[in-house]
Amino acid sequence: MSTLIARCRAVLAPAAVLVGLIAALSAATALRAQGTGTGAGTGIAIFDGADLALGERLIRESQCDACHARRMGGDGNDIYNPKGRISTPGALRGMVEYCNTELNLGFFPEEVTAIAAVLQRDHYRFR
Ligand code: HEC
Repeated sequence: MSTLIARCRAVLAPAAVLVGLIAALSAATALRAQGTGTGAGTGIAIFDGADLALGERLIRESQCDACHARRMGGDGNDIYNPKGRISTPGALRGMVEYCNTELNLGFFPEEVTAIAAVLQRDHYRFR
């Protein structure tokens, strides 16, 4: 009997993990659906059609947060507009372009737009 329970557990535990995983995944997908695609959620004309998923990936891969955190502390997000210096979507995109050039990141224009669109959505929230 106890072996049966043990076997059930062995079968059920991974199944439960799987169910949890699937639930988490679909929740993540649902969340994503609001943000990905064609600049949806930014509400800003110059970011129309921006590939937000691409922007998120580039920000992650480019160590933006790591370097910003070294300068500003925290999680690296405190660097975004502490002084309200950047006040328009165009200025934001320009700043990303500037970093791109200065740091030799080699982004294409549509990649700069994608990154700026993500920063708009997550931090600057211009209207
Ligand atoms: C090597 C370090 C470093 C890296 C890597 C870096 N940055 Fe920066 N970034 C800075 C510093 C330093 C400042 C602040 C400049 C200042 O205050 O004059 C800054 C400022 C900014 C600002 C302006 C913030 C504001 O509102 O005033 C933006 C936007 C920005 N970075 C975007 C990015 C993005 C996007 C990436 C990655 C693709 C990136 N940076 C990678 C160092 C870095």
